[in-house]
Amino acid sequence: MVTIRTAKTMDAAGIARVHVDTWRTTYAGMLPDRPLLDLSQQRQLRSWLALIRAEPGRQIVAIDGTAGVVAFGSCGRARRSQLPYDGEVFTLYVLPDYQGQGIGRRLLAGLFGVLAKEGFRSALVWVLAGNPARFFYRFMGGSWVAVREESLFGTRVEEHGYGWLDLGAVTAKSDPGSTI
Ligand SMILES: CC(C)(COP(=O)(O)OP(=O)(O)OC[C@H]1O[C@@H](n2cnc3c(N)ncnc32)[C@H](O)[C@@H]1OP(=O)(O)O)[C@@H](O)C(=O)NCCC(=O)NCCS
Repeated sequence: MVTIRTAKTMDAAGIARVHVDTWRTTYAGMLPDRPLLDLSQQRQLRSWLALIRAEPGRQIVAIDGTAGVVAFGSCGRARRSQLPYDGEVFTLYVLPDYQGQGIGRRLLAGLFGVLAKEGFRSALVWVLAGNPARFFYRFMGGSWVAVREESLFGTRVEEHGYGWLDLGAVTAKSDPGSTI
């Protein structure tokens, strides 16, 4: 059984492993190869450790009994947004072998729960235009609200914004494996 809970500092290495793995599998062909090859678990570990310490409670993990961390997500106050959404999902990544088993939905519901508990009322997520994950957010009830151009790894990318005005809209009904 895969459980969902708030990330602790001891999860930083597992998150870093999943981060590097999922970025390469997700963005190969969408982003330049070199920076994807250069992703480092050590650097990611340090930055996730710093984030978990700086903003405790805003990162969540999915833990498999044998494989450890198999997915993670993070959230907080919406960044650089003129849009009417105060919360933002910054990351949501599930290892390929664990996709399609409901973990993404459970994590998104968990992140919305974290945002709601902190007093946020709504949420936004930005997705690369070429990433099929945007259909997942649409499927989860997100409204397609904006398009923007960003610079990522030295390249211009188009991102689509999906928004929820009701944080209760995504639920993983009676999730006994979640402590969020
Ligand atoms: C996008 C992602 C988070 C979804 O997580 P997941 O665990 O695979 O999704 P779930 O199994 O929870 O799917 C929940 C529902 O969404 C649907 N769904 C999932 N991915 C979908 C997609 N790409 N397009 C359309 N529907 C999708 C599923 O069919 C499922 O429907 P159901 O409840 O009727 O069975 C995951 O595939 C992932 O990590 N992708 C790579 C990383 C990435 O792109 N992250 C987003 C960066 S912004």
